[in-house]
Amino acid sequence: MTQYIGKPLSRVDGVDKVTGKAKYAAEFNVPDLAYGYVISSAIAKGKITKIDATDALGLDGVLQVFTHENRPKLAWFDMNYKDQDAPPGSPFRPLYDAKIKYSGQPVALVVAETFEVARYAASLIQVEYDVDEHETDLASNQQEGRKPKSGVASLLKPPPPKPRGDFDEAYSASAVKVAEEYVHAVEHHNPMEMFATTVVYEQNGKLTIYDKTQGAPNSQMYVAQIFDIPFSDVRVVSPYVGGGFGSGLRPQYQLFLAVLASRELKRSVRVSLTRQQMFTFGHRPATIQRLALGASPDGTMSAIYHDAVAETSQFEDYTEVVVNWAGMLYPSENVTLTYKVVPLDMYTPLDMRAPGGVTGISALEVAVDELAHKLGMDPLELRLKNYADRDMNEDRPYSSKELKACFQQGAERFGWSKRNPEPRSTRQGHNLIGWGMATGIWDANQMPARAEAVLMVNGKLRVSSATADIGTGTYTVMAQIAADTLGMPIDDVLFKLGDSDLPLAPIQGGSWTMATVGSAVKVVCEDLSKSLFKLAKKMPGSPFAKVDFNDVEFADKSIRLKSDSSVVVSLQAVVDSNGGRAIRETSTSLPNMLEQRKYSRSTHSAVFVEVQVDEELGSVKITRAVTAVAGGRIINPKTARSQIIGGMVWGISKALEEESVMDHHFGRFMNHNLAEYHVAVNADIHDLDVIFVEEHDTIVNPLGVKGLGEIGIVGMPAAIANAVFHATGKRVRDLPITLDKLL
Ligand code: MOS
Repeated sequence: MTQYIGKPLSRVDGVDKVTGKAKYAAEFNVPDLAYGYVISSAIAKGKITKIDATDALGLDGVLQVFTHENRPKLAWFDMNYKDQDAPPGSPFRPLYDAKIKYSGQPVALVVAETFEVARYAASLIQVEYDVDEHETDLASNQQEGRKPKSGVASLLKPPPPKPRGDFDEAYSASAVKVAEEYVHAVEHHNPMEMFATTVVYEQNGKLTIYDKTQGAPNSQMYVAQIFDIPFSDVRVVSPYVGGGFGSGLRPQYQLFLAVLASRELKRSVRVSLTRQQMFTFGHRPATIQRLALGASPDGTMSAIYHDAVAETSQFEDYTEVVVNWAGMLYPSENVTLTYKVVPLDMYTPLDMRAPGGVTGISALEVAVDELAHKLGMDPLELRLKNYADRDMNEDRPYSSKELKACFQQGAERFGWSKRNPEPRSTRQGHNLIGWGMATGIWDANQMPARAEAVLMVNGKLRVSSATADIGTGTYTVMAQIAADTLGMPIDDVLFKLGDSDLPLAPIQGGSWTMATVGSAVKVVCEDLSKSLFKLAKKMPGSPFAKVDFNDVEFADKSIRLKSDSSVVVSLQAVVDSNGGRAIRETSTSLPNMLEQRKYSRSTHSAVFVEVQVDEELGSVKITRAVTAVAGGRIINPKTARSQIIGGMVWGISKALEEESVMDHHFGRFMNHNLAEYHVAVNADIHDLDVIFVEEHDTIVNPLGVKGLGEIGIVGMPAAIANAVFHATGKRVRDLPITLDKLL
């Protein structure tokens, strides 16, 4: 039965969220709670020579000041425990020693009876440093670029493929060429909810930890390993997350500091970071990319070169897939793709919505537009001319790829055929109007996950998995799958998540939750249906005694014969017959790797954008945009659309506004607040339209879903940059396209 799958249901947690009933990590209150305030390093590199906390400790209500000098000895300081999203290298350990590795590094935690006292006490603490020279500028250090170290992370983030053909020869023989450099700024995630951890200390030493995270089990394992506590004594709870975008894929330092303080003081402790401190861990790295494309006069792209150099920290090699996409999207015979990192004196970059993908595509798809312009060819026609039916990087087919349908339906909806190819050809008063388009691509992965399904004595269904809902709609879509699989009204289904006590699921990232946890929910509900049927068969006088499982269906809270719906046993009767006990199943869903590895699995999109550029002010307004997405089966068109719209808004923000500006003299991000770090606001957003093209895929996972959290952002910045060129005749190759670049 598919009563709910495919329907645009509103969020089941919507009312809780808008009425304030939904609680976030810093909102769980317990008696006798102490508050921590973090002191951040004022220098980018060097050594702490002295921390004088005398005045702070003399203040009424101050409980302790933790520093590298008095922190407890923990085995972890000498081992290399890695969280689920840790890149190769050696993770940063707060309060390890006197060394400063980056500006904003936590150097002390003040704990007091109130937040205000802790914050005031922090202002009284004198930290003295020996300052070393630091390097934070990617541009002036790019010659230091080297291949990143590989590690487990490389499985999901493959290095560039080996070159195919001979780029140099094909490029020099090409009639039409483009060779340009593209520069992208650092960005910070800036979710609305600040990072926070509330540790509830129980007298037996057990900890219940409310943490802001994209994976409760990830935080649980981290705490258990680092503090050498049995897993069963650490429970991490995170029912709601006020925006993640990747920032919560790794346990952040407030978690470590809150647990440390709680264990030392033997009481409950909360540590929240300030908005400024949200700029002290993880960011989308700055990149410098070089692209060269060669084509014959008919538009056949024979040569592609895409090189990227990105920053990382001195202690970890953060990598992302920036250049591989060129070799996937375009079937050129001669392709060279290279990727390097430059270690700098800053914190390790961190995955941010479509990490690498939006970076690489935002350069590649501009270069393709430049090529189209030189060829005198329509940009859409050029992409159709160079359409890849196979993934030539891996030399294998796609499990499904309805990108052509995206191009066609997107162009139709937008009215692309009416485009005058000439830049600066359309004007309305002092505004120049431009149309641009771009392609998007992202991974369609599935991970292993577990889920539990319980038919409770009251006849309701409870399904659970330790996944997260970072705002994506997990609560809702999982309930839809469970309700349909067991033929229950959705109001009788409760989905639980965000608790490390629940069956294990991976971090919520990589756009894989629908495919991963959705599959686990489907499997466990199917397993439960089989158990229920077995019990129903054994009930006294059961009409199913001699009936096969395949001959029944689950609908209207009951099991009934497919051929005769009057032959029926209600689920309530089944659970009643179970001696007053609930009926439960726990199942694991594993990706079918043997089958999946024969295919490349990706989502695709086509993006069309109209911009209006004020010629006198240089300001850019995105008047309308259409994104057509091939994302497999759509479980909930409403939450799915919201994901794509959210990605498009981010794309506008990235293209025009977002930039963490570092003062290299200090090695510090200077605009660390939402007044000076600009994000798109309501006034920046106009007509956004989303199309989901039909796409059937039996390979990606049993549900045929592909995940939509990231594909919405991927093609937007390039489409905007291309539209700005079409409007103004100015090609801006460094993001964001701020007005000074257009004047
Ligand atoms: Mo996403 S950057 O994998 O949360």
